[in-house]
Amino acid sequence: MQKKTINISYQSLHLDELSNEDKDLIKASEEIRDKAYAVYSDFYVGAALLLNNGNIVLGNNQENIAFPSSLCAERVAIFYCKANYPDSKIRKIAITAKSIKEAYKEVVTPCGSCRQVISEYERNQESPIQIILKGENEVLIFESINDLLPMSFETIVLGNK
Ligand code: THU
Repeated sequence: MQKKTINISYQSLHLDELSNEDKDLIKASEEIRDKAYAVYSDFYVGAALLLNNGNIVLGNNQENIAFPSSLCAERVAIFYCKANYPDSKIRKIAITAKSIKEAYKEVVTPCGSCRQVISEYERNQESPIQIILKGENEVLIFESINDLLPMSFETIVLGNK
């Protein structure tokens, strides 16, 4: 038996330490977050993507009374992005969240399904997607989805590549 370890790394920063580009992306994610359709959970999430063509693509969570029909902010933004700019690369994604019911101070980390989706597009574009998560007092930056979803399911498993 051989015990193995996977290391992931990320930066923890204060808002003041961010570049203007990152601050603007976070602000855009907060603005779109507040327009989410989150009438069932009261949990509002915003995602802002910065593309290599300079465009910013926004998304927020969209809920439905048939709960599984809902979609997370990250996938709303990413699927819109890939539908409209299929050849653009995603450089960064900023994610912010707010709960109406209670003060929510922590960063929100993307769910497993969103990580899997980001992972496939990162692999396709052959360049890392930086992930910026903002809580009340702290910003976390992951340089690649591999740091949030190590050992992701790959198409190579299906023999497609
Ligand atoms: N949600 C997101 O939009 N992104 C995440 O990363 C986590 C969860 C949404 C789904 C649902 O509308 C609400 O937050 C509560 O789970």
